[in-house]
Order: sequence, then C-alpha cells, then structure tokens
Amino acid sequence: MALRFHVHTYGCQMNVHDSQKVANLLHHEGMEQADDAGDADLLVINTCSIREKAEHRLYSDLGRLREWKRERPGRVLGVGGCVAQQEGDAVLRRFPHLDFVFGTHNLRLVPALVAAARDGTRATRVDETRSLDRFDLPERHPGFESGSPGRAFVTVMEGCDMFCSFCIVPRTRGREISRPANGILDEARALADAGVVELTLLGQTVNAYGRHDVRRGRTETVGTLAFAELLTALDAIPGVSRLRYTSPHPIFFDEALIRAHAELERLCPHVHLPLQSGSDRVLERMRRRYTADDFRRLADRLHAARPDLVLTSDLIVGFPGETEADFEHTLAVVRDVDLVDAYTFKYSPRPGTAAEDLPDSVAPEVAQERLERLQSQVRDQTLAYHRGRVGGTTEVLLLGASRRDTGALSGRDPQHRVVNLAAPPSGDAAPGTLLPVEIVDATPHSLIGLARPSAGPEDSLRDGLRLADEPRRMPAVA
Ligand code: 5AD
Ligand code: SF4
Repeated sequence: MALRFHVHTYGCQMNVHDSQKVANLLHHEGMEQADDAGDADLLVINTCSIREKAEHRLYSDLGRLREWKRERPGRVLGVGGCVAQQEGDAVLRRFPHLDFVFGTHNLRLVPALVAAARDGTRATRVDETRSLDRFDLPERHPGFESGSPGRAFVTVMEGCDMFCSFCIVPRTRGREISRPANGILDEARALADAGVVELTLLGQTVNAYGRHDVRRGRTETVGTLAFAELLTALDAIPGVSRLRYTSPHPIFFDEALIRAHAELERLCPHVHLPLQSGSDRVLERMRRRYTADDFRRLADRLHAARPDLVLTSDLIVGFPGETEADFEHTLAVVRDVDLVDAYTFKYSPRPGTAAEDLPDSVAPEVAQERLERLQSQVRDQTLAYHRGRVGGTTEVLLLGASRRDTGALSGRDPQHRVVNLAAPPSGDAAPGTLLPVEIVDATPHSLIGLARPSAGPEDSLRDGLRLADEPRRMPAVA
C-alpha cells in the first residue's frame, strides 16, 4: 500500500504554497495524501517564526507528537520552514523522535530525506543557495489537490533584501532571488490548462521582482522582467480570469505597476499593502524606507488608477518607543487611505533582528489596548465598506461551503472579500467556477450575495462589473 503523508502548515501563504510543493513532490514519489495526521505514515510540519507565539506552538506540538510516533512503528516525522531554517540541527537534537529537518531552500530534498529516515538515518539539510534550481519543481501530479479549487499560487521571487528591523524573514528565507519569467509563464499556462482561473503571484516582496536584474542590465541573461511586464505577459494567457500578487512593498510601486492596475483587465482591484505603522518616527526605526505621506500618496495613486480598488494591510502596534501619538498617527493613516481590512499584530522581538535590543519597549497591557483600538477601527471600516457594496453586483470565484452555514456556498470577489451565498445557486455553479452575484447584505466579516440570473448578451458579466458595480469609496469613519 502507498505510503500516506500529511503536511501541517503554520504561517503565511508562502508556507502554504511550500507545503503544496512538498505534497506534490511526495505524490510524484507515489505517496498519497492523508486528510489528517492520524491516518498518516509521514508527517511534515512546515513552520513559521515570524512571531514568538508561532515558534512556541511548534515546540509544544513536537512534544505531543512523541505519542504519534509511538502509536505506529515506522512512522516518519519531518520539520521544515522558517524555524527549521533558523534552528537547524538544534531541533533535531532537542527532539529525538524527529527524523529530519529541511530548510526553506531545500524542499526538493524532502523525498530523499524521507527515504533516508526509513533506512534509519536522521538528517538536517538547511543549506542556503543562490541557485535558481530551487524553482525547478515538477508539474502538478494528477493526484495532487490544492484544496483551493480554481485558484493557485505561483512563486515569482523568494527571499528578502529589505531587512526591516523587526523582521526575521531575511534570515529565514535568505537573499532576494527572482525566478526566470519563462518558468513562471509555463507554470501559469499549465495551471490555466488544468482549469485554474485565478493566479496569485507570490514573493516576500513580490513587486521587487526582477529589480536587481533590471538595475544591472542583465534581465536578458537571467530571463527576468520588470514586475509590470511580467503582469502584462500573464494577463495575456487565455483562461486566466484573475491575477493577484502578494505581498508587495510600498517602495517598489513604479509608474508602470500603477498603470497596470488601470490597464490590465484581469489584474484584480485589490492590493494587500503592508503599512506597519503610520508614524514617521516608528517607520524610520522599522527601516521601512517610506513616510506616512509617501504611503498616502501611493494609496491615492492606486485608487485613482482603479477606483474600485480595495487596500488591505499589515499593521504592528507596540514597536519599541511607540508613543500614544505615534499610535494615533497609525489610526489616522488607516482611516485616510480607506483600508478595508488589516492583519494586526503586537510587536514580537525576534532573535538576531536589528530591533531585538531596542530600548523603550511598550508595556504589554498598553500594546494590547492599542491592538484592540486598532482592531475596532478596522472592523468599523470593513463594515462601512461592506455596507457600501450592498445593492451592487460582482463576480464570485466559488471556493466551497460557507463557514456561516454548511449548506451554502462561499467564495471571493475580485476585491478578495468573502461572499457567502444566501441561497444555493441554480445550475452547475460549483467550486472553482465564477458566478455573477448580487450583494444583498453585509456583515463585518463578509458580503452576503445571491446568484444573478444568467446574463444575456447585452448584459454581459463584464458590463455588469464595470457599470453596475460603480466604484464606491468607503465613507470616512470618524
Ligand atoms: N512582530 C510582530 N509582527 C511582525 N510581522 C513581521 N515581523 C513581526 C514581528 N517581529 C508582521 C508584519 C508583516 C507580517 C507578515 O507580520 O506586519 O507584514
Ligand atoms: Fe520582512 Fe520587511 Fe522583508 Fe517584508 S519587506 S519580509 S517585513 S524584512
């Protein structure tokens, strides 16, 4: 019987995608996916170290997995991702029931590490490489299921050279490296042929794609492009109805990328644009390389290029030295740029980062109180935006059962908002397909929609999107 594996993922979309790559490699080895660890012979944990909490959770999970190993002889346990990259052999030494550790540049070694473990050899492989080999992964195996019908991630660059003072990613993911465009386009075409309608381009600073090669005049030798040119090439692939990218850095928006938002029909009207803080003092100490006004101007230009565009963001409260006035600047920018949603975090010191030893740490209860105020403002802004959408029409990529009601379908609109259907659509609307929807209600978490009757020729979906779904700017929230 085929060996059964399960991959458990912590952290960001990059990790989710890395887990998919590992799963695909294991399918190519003839293994089968198990829905949960209890049914698996091989368990791979893909770890995150962006904040301390995620790291602690891994260690307590690994402790508990001693029992999992004991239950069935021959079981194999591996750990990859950012904690693995950071801690290397120390994790293997600390947990004797762990069989292998692999770093963020070593996904391709997982099958060999599994084979070695089955022969009784424990190993760590966390070597960093600047080689482009790591992008050469096999095509999707017929047995592979992403769990996300109709959607797929495509890696365009990896690593980060920005060294924001709070962030461990440059240490866990290594130096910035862009993937040759041909590989990206081939993968995108293959995904489109397999029925994928929405592609999300992934990279730690995704819009920095190709910048080092552009600057050194070597795009032709390496095979990269400027990011906006890559988007233009992807936009032309038949079958790709939606293009997204995440996460961009504010300083890498050039004129061409902003214009792409006005001109490329398939480029979705949503940008997840990490702000981190709205205070210039804090931004400087975070080494973000922009000011609050730079960010405001960028938001204005994006909204001007594409009036129905939604901005979401990442925000950190309680960075060392953050005063009440600094925090209020963050609240002000969040309001001024009409953020529709945000991931909000309390600052967590990370080993080896420039901010680790900064003085003037913010008291935990103050950080907690700021987090709650920020979340409450973001919630108000989300709800106001959602309410503004009621009565409009949109197009939803159906993804599966809604979380509110297991009988109903749910999906995402072009702005990446969750749309729950209030009633099952008639016809053959299934996960992985696009459905025209009318928005009938709004909650802080989602839009509520109803499938529209099928569009006639003079009422095509695109007309509906452009005309009926009038661009709505969010009303200001006091
Ligand atoms: N503490 C808190 N939040 C952090 N992030 C990154 N590093 C830290 C840290 N040390 C947040 C940032 C980033 C998101 C992925 O995680 O907001 O954009
Ligand atoms: Fe971390 Fe900054 Fe790089 Fe983003 S740009 S991954 S926050 S160092």
